[in-house]
Amino acid sequence: KTIYLSEYRVPDFLVDHADLRFELFEDGARVHSSLSIRRNPEAHGQGSPLELNGDSLQLQSVHLDGRELAKDEYEDRSDLLVVPSVPDAFELRVVTWIEPQNNTRLEGLYKSSGMFCTQCEAEGFRCITFFPDRPDVMARFRTRIEADKAAYPVLLSNGNPVDSGELDNGRHFVTWEDPFPKPSYLFALVAGALVEKNDTFRTMSGREIDLRIYVEPRNADKTAHAMDSLKRSMRWDEETYGREYDLDIFMIVAVDDFNMGAMENKGLNIFNSSCVLARPESETDMAFQRIEAIVAHEYFHNWSGNRVTCRDWFQLSLKEGFTVFRDSQFSADMGSPTVKRIEDATLLRTAQFAEDAGPMAHPVRPASYMEISNFYTLTIYEKGNEVVRMIHTLLGPELFRKGSDLYFERHDGQAVTTDDFVRAMEDASGRDLSQFRLWYEQAGTPVLTVEDDYDEASQTYRLTVAQSIPDTPGQTGKKPQHIPFALGLLAANGTDIPLTLAGEHSAGVTTRVLELTEKSHTFEFTGIASRPVPSLLRNFSAPVRVNYPWTRDQLMFLMSHDSDGFNRWDAGQRLAVEVIRELSGHAEAEVDPRLVEASRTLLNDRDADQALVAKMLQLPTEAYLIELADKPDVQIIHHARERVVKVLATALREELLDCYRRQQPAEPYQVTPEDVASRSLRNMALSWLLHIGDEGALSLALGQFESATNMTDQAGALRALVNSPFEAERGRALEAFYQRWHQDPQVVEQWFSIQAASPVTGDLPSVRRLLEHEAFDWKNPNKIRSVVGAFAGQNLVHFHDQEGSGYRFLADTIRRLDDSNPQIAARLAAPLTRWRKFAPVYSEGMRKALESVRDKDGLSRDVYEIVHKSLAD
Ligand code: ARG
Ligand code: ZN
Repeated sequence: KTIYLSEYRVPDFLVDHADLRFELFEDGARVHSSLSIRRNPEAHGQGSPLELNGDSLQLQSVHLDGRELAKDEYEDRSDLLVVPSVPDAFELRVVTWIEPQNNTRLEGLYKSSGMFCTQCEAEGFRCITFFPDRPDVMARFRTRIEADKAAYPVLLSNGNPVDSGELDNGRHFVTWEDPFPKPSYLFALVAGALVEKNDTFRTMSGREIDLRIYVEPRNADKTAHAMDSLKRSMRWDEETYGREYDLDIFMIVAVDDFNMGAMENKGLNIFNSSCVLARPESETDMAFQRIEAIVAHEYFHNWSGNRVTCRDWFQLSLKEGFTVFRDSQFSADMGSPTVKRIEDATLLRTAQFAEDAGPMAHPVRPASYMEISNFYTLTIYEKGNEVVRMIHTLLGPELFRKGSDLYFERHDGQAVTTDDFVRAMEDASGRDLSQFRLWYEQAGTPVLTVEDDYDEASQTYRLTVAQSIPDTPGQTGKKPQHIPFALGLLAANGTDIPLTLAGEHSAGVTTRVLELTEKSHTFEFTGIASRPVPSLLRNFSAPVRVNYPWTRDQLMFLMSHDSDGFNRWDAGQRLAVEVIRELSGHAEAEVDPRLVEASRTLLNDRDADQALVAKMLQLPTEAYLIELADKPDVQIIHHARERVVKVLATALREELLDCYRRQQPAEPYQVTPEDVASRSLRNMALSWLLHIGDEGALSLALGQFESATNMTDQAGALRALVNSPFEAERGRALEAFYQRWHQDPQVVEQWFSIQAASPVTGDLPSVRRLLEHEAFDWKNPNKIRSVVGAFAGQNLVHFHDQEGSGYRFLADTIRRLDDSNPQIAARLAAPLTRWRKFAPVYSEGMRKALESVRDKDGLSRDVYEIVHKSLAD
């Protein structure tokens, strides 16, 4: 069944207060819910029956205003509790029985390594009790939790603790009250034997907030980084957005079994362990940075998501796009803004552009869905971030802040739409964003085709920019969008030319944001003394593709001279893409020596920002090369890229060794942009050299593997060894690593994914063996992602085996997981959905694999939607 935005109706009933009592046992949980309900004065259907959502609930009793209802006074459909005749305001008491210990879907209330925890977004609350489970119904929650005191000494829910005490039979209770009305998706409960790490934060108005991170005892030494990140986030949101925290306590809980990264439940954020726990010995730089960003993201949701929430799930990007924008600004401020921009653009261009070009393409504000869990996508999150960023670019920082202040003030305590957000930005700035709204409505990645011509006689440079937006499923003939297009022009000496458009007087700035609103524009720059090299879409000012015929020499020139760091990097990527493409399918073609020289220059440039150098030396990934190609042949792309690595490593051996020796960050371990860049360069040098079987590098790698004091270096050495031709050393290192770390599930996940993603150790039979490994667990999403996800998402040469064995393996895995965890099953299907893009030797096998999933009996709604949309013509 498909749900449409156009069919939105306000709720018939509102819930003012939800009083919940949980009795937690080993064989199940009894949930007593007492709701004060009244008819919504704004609803049309006065007199309509009361309908509450439910899922997998055993109904025990229903009371209306204190009177137990007879069986014929209500209807218990499996997904709905219907009470046909109710007064205008009443108290409904419902008792349900649920089995958290058997909940493998990890939606609603479930158990993870012995503790009870919840995940309610988007529609998990209905797996706990009957409720109008939609975000525009906001209630004040009071939650009493009862459990065995020895097994579950810690009992948590949203808000502030208001009561606690002892019960019979060694049981106890704690009552929590959340003063802020909230939708059910923000409800949370945790019960377990957890240790508590404390800190405090003084807010800008001088209130003292109690900060707590709860973890299993074995993780007690992994909370410091998250706590620091939390305090930095709280300070930053005050300084940058004027947002202060509103409860007296803020809690974070780490759980091992979690479908996603983390969840912003009011006052009680619940995190996937891998997104919150870290110490230098066992987690990498990447993990440290990811944790800082996710802690910030969930914290920022307290305003962009919780205080102001979504009217319906079509508006998901209202909170996600804006919050990703906020966390990306935060990460930029905490580290290197250019590197952060490169990372965001890389993810967008590799994965979101692919989504936008595939069968699941949807607008930032979708018009319909079957299963909302399938719409927690790169488009909602990352393209949604870019859309907010473009508003920021168009308005400038001051007006944007005015707009966000107005948005929070106007809509505090409300459930609103992306349109309300844009309107606040318009009202605060006086700008007309009506055409800009198309970014929310039209799917597909706009393509900008740029042509230029220079007239020496009149010293004018003319630039023509045409935009087009490809058709996507159900959407054709799109209108031009409002695109902020930042650009600069470089003079022959490499400096930026001040930009003056024809008809303007004063000499302009060197970067201008042109606003594209028509199908095509021509801009005329005057006073240009010689033919410039254009630097287009500076800092990736819009989520679009840009086509312009730069020569390789121009790209080399931009790589060393562009004042825009992002475009220096982008020029390098374009050069590498061209060089790799040229080799594809031409075994005898030579690697363009200009790429070797450009890389040599970078390696030798000690004055340049090493964080940018580290990024620039990374070759485009196979996934990106595939995304750019038409009917790609994966095997050919893989081998072409491999050849380039070999040529670079061979030609630059001395420089790489020198770089390796030079890049030694001082102790103690720190996650600064400088140190991260150092370790990244060092490990890249190592991996390139091991790739060509360099014996000298082998001993460096073994030494580093033995003596590393942080996981970035230890895993870096392991990865380099795994991807090297040194078979014996590779096996020994893998074994030693496992022996050392087998008690730490997060490190074991890294160990799995290094192997499953490797072209050397990640052939299908070996991946199957990983699934038989003692540490593998089909119930744990992180383990599935670290083996199956890494194989299908990163190990493209084996996944796209031309016999189709990789596809059949993935299809089998999806069918297996469909019953136990449909959300994870549906996510794993993503690589297969792109079947139409590939050359026929691949696409046939991918399609067959999808069909075999489609034909499974009792397919979940999650997988059904993905598979049917991918196979539809
Ligand atoms: N709101 C969470 C976040 O972005 C993600 C929750 C996703 N849950 C889901 N069932 N898809 O931080
Ligand atoms: Zn979020």
